Amino acid sequence: MKHIQVDLKNALPFLNQDDFKSYDKLVKDQNKQLENKTGKGNDFLGWLNLPENISKDQIADINETGTKLRNISEIIVVIGIGGSYLGAKSIIDALSGQFDHLKHDKNNSQILFAGQNLSEDYYYELLEYLKDKKYSLIVISKSGITTEPAIAFRLLRKDLEKRFGNKEAAARIVAITDASKGALRELTNKEDYKSFIINDDIGGRYSVLTPVGLLPIACAGFNIEEIIAGAKSMLELSQNDTFNSNPVYKYAAIRHALYSKNKTIEILTNYNPKLNYIAEWWKQLFGESEGKENKGIFPASVSFTTDLHSMGQYVQEGLRNIFETVISVEKTKFNLQIPNDDDNFDKLNYLAGKPIDYVNKMAELGTTLAHIDGNVPNIKITLPEINEYYLGELLYFFEKACAISGYLLEINPFDQPGVEAYKKNMFALLEKPGFEEESIEIKKKLNS
Ligand code: PA5
Repeated sequence: MKHIQVDLKNALPFLNQDDFKSYDKLVKDQNKQLENKTGKGNDFLGWLNLPENISKDQIADINETGTKLRNISEIIVVIGIGGSYLGAKSIIDALSGQFDHLKHDKNNSQILFAGQNLSEDYYYELLEYLKDKKYSLIVISKSGITTEPAIAFRLLRKDLEKRFGNKEAAARIVAITDASKGALRELTNKEDYKSFIINDDIGGRYSVLTPVGLLPIACAGFNIEEIIAGAKSMLELSQNDTFNSNPVYKYAAIRHALYSKNKTIEILTNYNPKLNYIAEWWKQLFGESEGKENKGIFPASVSFTTDLHSMGQYVQEGLRNIFETVISVEKTKFNLQIPNDDDNFDKLNYLAGKPIDYVNKMAELGTTLAHIDGNVPNIKITLPEINEYYLGELLYFFEKACAISGYLLEINPFDQPGVEAYKKNMFALLEKPGFEEESIEIKKKLNS
């Protein structure tokens, strides 16, 4: 069985080799803190053994709930934001056909997302789209009080109740939230919605392998057992104490070593647009985990070759504080060759008969070499193919590397105190009950 691979050969030349050797011990020490639960934020480590702890009954419950929802829905709207949204969105996008959303396939429910923005137009257009369709809701909020999903849920719940009556609406709603706290839990208990619990020891951005990610993925028709199997295989690989055989150690170490050399921006690069939302999920994971105490690598992303025609110039010649991590997919799902053309007006016959992926791979290699020449260190993560198993490996790989990476920075990778700042201002401006003093202060600030 293949596994995802991490290749450092195009990043190591940017470092002093003796310095880098010291990471062997450093990452092992951080891993020990993680495994022994003695590091910062150790009450948020429920995700660490999730792939081996999730039971057959839990998986069956998720699959059964997914099947029930699919049977009664043309559309399933998944409501959530941040960690309660990006994991499911990234895996569903990666596994779906890129034009599936345009198909009217009676056997497959379409998955849409809401609660991830506050755009009035978005909600108006969503309600318009849902007007003549049978739909259901999965509402996900760990805290149960986040404003964006709460507004979306209120809108869509009212619409469901108006259209189907309260009883059928309740049967069309599944909630994923805290066991006992929060407004969503209260409403779930009152209306007797089917629900799943997010454990206290699993933060939002580490929750993709719980029902938060798995239920929407199952609803989209994908195999969640395979995702868990992949994650479990990476869990085992990440327990290998030989540095070079442990992809998690290698990635956590090289990131920190490059950061120490002022490479403060990491660009996650793909050559397959199906992976664009994996990059969004990754940005939240690393950005929210590491960006604190005035430290942290800034996580950015590009999708090549598309963005070579927009961001390529900056990556090649802009400020030299960038390194790049490429997710390279070994094997495409389908085969398509470039056709011959008798007239050869476009002078492309030299490529006739070649798979399009061959050109993509040469673009990838050419770009990597150009970036190395341009002083952009390159880390390569090879995914044998895009399927549930390897995506499961990839998710767990990034989660564990992020935790170790956070410990190398000596911060708590499991909290997000900075996220509250915008909320406090927004509540003050909205004059939310309980924010009276903040309202006065913010008005003074705006008028000064
Ligand atoms: O990672 C996190 O903790 C956050 O991004 C949350 O997932 C996000 O703010 C949504 O929170 P909640 O699930 O409580 O609505």
